Amino acid sequence: MLALLTLLLVEVANAGLLRFGGLLTERFGGDDQHVSFTLQGNQSLLESHAGSNSTTHFYKNALLDHFGGLSDEKHWLQRYYVDSSQWGGEGYPVFLYIGGEGPQGPVSSSLFMYELAVEHKALVLALEHRFYGESRPVEDMSDANLKFLTSHQALGDLARFVEYIKAYDPNVNDAKSSPPLSLPASAQESPFVAFGGSYPGNLAAWFKLKYPSVVIGSVASSAPVFAEYDFAEYGGVVGRALSYPLIGGSDQCYSAVEKAVTTLKTLLDSTTPAGSSDKIPSYLRPCSPIGGPLDLATYEAQIFGAFQGVVQYNLENRPPYVSDLCTAMTDGNDDDDILLRLVKTLKLVYGGVTCMPSSFEKSVAPLQDAQFSQAGCDLSCSSMRQWIYQSCHEFGYFQTTTGDKMNPFAAFDTVTAENAGAAIRKAAYNLSASVDYAGPAANAEGLVANTAYGARNLAAHNITAVNGNMDPWHSLGIVNASDPFFNAGDSSSRFPQHVTPSESIVFIDGTAHCRDMYATNVFGQDPEPVSWAHAKIRGNVAAYLA
Ligand SMILES: *[C@@H]1O[C@H](CO)[C@@H](O)[C@H](O)[C@H]1NC(C)=O
Ligand SMILES: *[C@@H]1O[C@H](CO)[C@@H](O)[C@H](O)[C@H]1NC(C)=O
Ligand SMILES: *[C@@H]1O[C@H](CO)[C@@H](O)[C@H](O)[C@H]1NC(C)=O
Ligand SMILES: *[C@@H]1O[C@H](CO)[C@@H](O)[C@H](O)[C@H]1NC(C)=O
Ligand SMILES: *[C@@H]1O[C@H](CO)[C@@H](O)[C@H](O)[C@H]1NC(C)=O
Repeated sequence: MLALLTLLLVEVANAGLLRFGGLLTERFGGDDQHVSFTLQGNQSLLESHAGSNSTTHFYKNALLDHFGGLSDEKHWLQRYYVDSSQWGGEGYPVFLYIGGEGPQGPVSSSLFMYELAVEHKALVLALEHRFYGESRPVEDMSDANLKFLTSHQALGDLARFVEYIKAYDPNVNDAKSSPPLSLPASAQESPFVAFGGSYPGNLAAWFKLKYPSVVIGSVASSAPVFAEYDFAEYGGVVGRALSYPLIGGSDQCYSAVEKAVTTLKTLLDSTTPAGSSDKIPSYLRPCSPIGGPLDLATYEAQIFGAFQGVVQYNLENRPPYVSDLCTAMTDGNDDDDILLRLVKTLKLVYGGVTCMPSSFEKSVAPLQDAQFSQAGCDLSCSSMRQWIYQSCHEFGYFQTTTGDKMNPFAAFDTVTAENAGAAIRKAAYNLSASVDYAGPAANAEGLVANTAYGARNLAAHNITAVNGNMDPWHSLGIVNASDPFFNAGDSSSRFPQHVTPSESIVFIDGTAHCRDMYATNVFGQDPEPVSWAHAKIRGNVAAYLA
């Protein structure tokens, strides 16, 4: 889930969904009025404490450093959830929901994996990711402590946790969790299946790759397994969605957005400082004077971000939808002022704000705060410093407007990785301004994650990779070869997609981020492509457990 600069990211409270869009800022508005702004999937459907059959525990033996020496054997408390209400007991499977870049709550019965758990009489577990929510291996997020925040450590946590659950003996009082774990049976002989969406989708796939004997199979939804520094394809999929008839897009809609962006850009550039032209409608004016390219990037990313957020979660019960934006963008006469249509459209997303944020300094400030949110923040703990660090360090994922394909935002030429991405790295984490991902293949397209995991060539067994072709993140994922974003971004062809016979691609027409993760008909009658995808996932999970 979740935008500034080129990196664009809007704080989204939890979810385990990748951040997108609009600046890195969690709040925006005029200088005095800070309007709370969260764009995300419909969280209440994914997880909620209310009415859940889950119990909450903290695992006391979580290890700070899985790759360090004995002197580094510091332990910490990692939060997890257990739902044994459906479990058949000994020998019946265990379904592990992998937490990601946000606080993790208990697994909701609105998830498709819960539906499968009922069918297979599975025990359902969820493990919160280190550094997020209430799971804190260190006192604070100083630059030095952030070295313990990596996907590799997270996989180590998962393996250690599974080992603990397998060793649990129902006849012995548990001392390793607080409150103590209480299961009706031993899970020693149970097959484990991992589930995750978005960044946790990566983790689900990488877990099967790196710890093949720990889980029998993994379902990896919307997993952007190809790490890319300059993630220009994101805007390309947004452009494609705006013109995709199945979800209410049209060529007219695409052209209208492109015209609005170009018109606005011309006005921005017509004055010094940029954006002070009184021909810009007041709603679209910068909240503070634009002092340079980074402020301009902040501003442009905010406009881009409105479209990002809507496309990423289209039709997942959180209006407005693409069809609403397209109606607003194309409604009226050709003579209408295109910028007034843009205002009407942005109001659907940002509501009653009075200007657009335009201060780079303000937008990175929350990233510089090395303190965790106060303990007890639960599902509303902040995740921004953590997730942007992971992006800067391991994955890139800077959502830029530099794409040369299907990109109606191209006129916004300040939202670049070289510009804003580099500035965020430096301002928030004192990482060198130039791309300098440590590792054997340190270059813009060989981020650490690609060489460590193989990107779209996972070379593993029993992985189901699920994506929707209207999800911007699918362009970094494992998809049908007929898709325009197949192997996108890998210009040096170092990591071409390759699937083994036991890896399965489930590629859905018309759906957005993580759509397959919701249970049957939670949003009303599922479209046929969703039912088709569910049937495939259901079949694969049954095969792993056969
Ligand atoms: C809790 O488990 C019971 C027993 O299976 C079930 O009837 C109920 O629907 C479950 N509640 C939730 C919220 O999953
Ligand atoms: C989330 O979904 C629930 C249940 O469908 C709905 O009542 C609620 O309004 C949705 N929340 C948002 C923010 O759209
Ligand atoms: C930032 O990193 C540079 C180079 O490693 C170092 O010299 C400098 O002291 C660091 N600045 C801060 C504020 O930590
Ligand atoms: C991907 O390929 C499968 C199998 O050929 C097909 O059923 C599915 O419709 C395709 N999905 C998309 C979005 O093209
Ligand atoms: C893959 O799943 C099959 C069951 O379909 C199982 O026999 C096999 O051990 C699994 N392979 C791995 C590497 O987990």
